[in-house]
Amino acid sequence: MSKEFTYTDEDYSRVARHIYKLAGISLGESRREMVYSRLSREIRRLGLPSVRSYLDYLDRAGDAAWAHFVNLLTTNLTSFFRESHHFTILKDQVLPAAREPVRIWSCACATGEEPYSIAIACAEYHHGAESPPVSVIATDINTAVIQEAERGIYARERVEGIKQELLRKYFLSGTGAHEEFVKVKPGIRRMVAFSVLNLMHAHWNIEGKFDAIFCRNVMIYFDKSTQYKILERFEPMLKPHGLLFAGHSESFFNAKDLFVPTGKTTYRPARLAVQG
Ligand SMILES: C[S@@+](CC[C@H](N)C(=O)[O-])C[C@H]1O[C@@H](n2cnc3c(N)ncnc32)[C@H](O)[C@@H]1O
Repeated sequence: MSKEFTYTDEDYSRVARHIYKLAGISLGESRREMVYSRLSREIRRLGLPSVRSYLDYLDRAGDAAWAHFVNLLTTNLTSFFRESHHFTILKDQVLPAAREPVRIWSCACATGEEPYSIAIACAEYHHGAESPPVSVIATDINTAVIQEAERGIYARERVEGIKQELLRKYFLSGTGAHEEFVKVKPGIRRMVAFSVLNLMHAHWNIEGKFDAIFCRNVMIYFDKSTQYKILERFEPMLKPHGLLFAGHSESFFNAKDLFVPTGKTTYRPARLAVQG
């Protein structure tokens, strides 16, 4: 089928080189069509004739255009209490061992469902306290999802899987024109601090130590050497009892010297496992 915009192998290679350099994301051959469909709306909006002309435009454009390019190419799929066993581990293992105040980092937080789920799990652990001694740092490379996450407003269907009791306790129901939406209650919202952070940057504007780092469903986009470099930086940021949480299809066996598995996609620093 003919395409609205000219799109060559060289265009795809250029996109792949840029997104790897900017975000560490390795696009395999299979992402060719996905890239076209993600970029075409922007190319149409700019009134350009081809993918190549868009890439040439980017070469002349400033930071905002590049940030938008990254936003378009990141996949932000997420949900509340995704991989629910992690929230049980957080309540049963991490929080009882933690000394307050507790600090947790959600390092690829997308639209906020993950850090808000962490905050709710912690509030539950503290019997629904209004201001539990827990802070959740939530970061992502995508500037648009961070703005969305900060609002804390979700379509009702996004919270369908959450237990009614938790929904009542931690969300406000929209009324009138907003009845299809819910909003995270201020107490939970205050526990989470959002900011833009690129895991590929040499300087992260946050400091350890953390009781837990949630790094879920983002390493799959990186190659093994990029993963290793990030894991090397996470390791000293965890407190002695701290855990690293990974996504269901991610494993860090290539970094056994840094992290050892402690259960279903959870890891602890290897140096502590050696010391016993
Ligand atoms: C599939 S979502 C995962 C969301 C959530 N952690 C979860 O498991 O449900 C992947 C997220 O990683 C972010 N991401 C991709 N590359 C990144 C990078 N270099 N630095 C920080 N975040 C990145 C994307 O913007 C996206 O929001």
